[in-house]
Amino acid sequence: MRYLITGGAGFVGSHLAEYLIHRGDEVVVLDNLLTGSLENIEHLHKSPGFRFVEGSVMDKNLVAEIMEKCDAVFHLAAAVGVKFVMENLVTSIEINVRGTENVLSVAAEGGKKVLITSSSEVFGKSNKASFHEEDDLIIGPPHKVRWCYATSKLLDEFLAMGYFLEKGLPVVIVRLFNVCGPRQTGRYGMVIPRFVKQALNGEPITVYGTGKQIRSFLHVKDAVVGMVGLMEEKRAEGMVFNIGNPQGITIEALAIKVKELTGSSSPIVYIPYEEVYGPHFEDLIYRVPDVNRAKAVIGFQPKYSLEDILKDTISYIKESGNPCST
Ligand SMILES: NC(=O)c1ccc[n+]([C@@H]2O[C@H](COP(=O)([O-])OP(=O)(O)OC[C@H]3O[C@@H](n4cnc5c(N)ncnc54)[C@H](O)[C@@H]3O)[C@@H](O)[C@H]2O)c1
Repeated sequence: MRYLITGGAGFVGSHLAEYLIHRGDEVVVLDNLLTGSLENIEHLHKSPGFRFVEGSVMDKNLVAEIMEKCDAVFHLAAAVGVKFVMENLVTSIEINVRGTENVLSVAAEGGKKVLITSSSEVFGKSNKASFHEEDDLIIGPPHKVRWCYATSKLLDEFLAMGYFLEKGLPVVIVRLFNVCGPRQTGRYGMVIPRFVKQALNGEPITVYGTGKQIRSFLHVKDAVVGMVGLMEEKRAEGMVFNIGNPQGITIEALAIKVKELTGSSSPIVYIPYEEVYGPHFEDLIYRVPDVNRAKAVIGFQPKYSLEDILKDTISYIKESGNPCST
């Protein structure tokens, strides 16, 4: 197979490209390097089946030109991360909505299957201990710009569903829940690389809010296996899937674990959300997935533990000279 991966120079996309190349597929990455980097895919250039195109999903002609020679598309290109989106509202909406529309409409012309990556953010303020794909989604009003990312991703889901129902395009919608591991940067507020870097530098480990909020973390290698499995499964078409780790942990406990595993003497400090994100910021208590649907359809089961994720991230940050700024 020859796959197009939009956003393939990013964190998840580069691992996906690596996985597909290693098993013998061909991969074309389209990325404008907004948050991705050439270093993420440097090691793939020696593979004959790999090609990188620097460009944007906003360029529909370019998307069409590349997609013509591909069999299917993993659409990951996006303005990512709540903090980044809050600081770049218009650009983020444009990329996440128009970019996705370009990918879906070009794919529909050629009948190419598309997997789109949505986010656990779409569940919004729901306070269920475990989120199911068919739950109602509770998103805040527009002056609380935290919900912009979720809204843009949710519109992507509706768009994909529309292409499936009205145009017969085979699509799969994946809601990723906190995917972590090597190459993830802390720059856009991602908690694990941020904590690890702070701990390694002996700086305070900054927990936002009370630290009692519960999150779950999935190793990027497990996420990739889940995404590829869903792409290849006919029964997944036209459906939404949670891909995450059903095992939750409080952010406070995560900070303690990072401190232990790095052997750091950093203090753990608590910072109110408003100081980090400004007024009107709303956070949620739970963000843990129910993954029974993915389990039933493709046998999805995370293989890696939180400790594996933390150890891999610590080694990566140490080996690469502590590159992710906080
Ligand atoms: N990592 C997670 O925990 C997580 C959780 C939920 C959803 N997601 C989704 O998964 C996808 C990948 O996220 P990631 O964590 O790897 O983030 P990332 O920032 O590393 O990857 C996004 C990539 O998209 C590229 N990009 C942005 N705008 C583009 C454009 N206009 N044209 C082409 N490329 C563009 C960026 O340069 C980057 O390489 C995103 O769609 C994100 O919303 C990720």
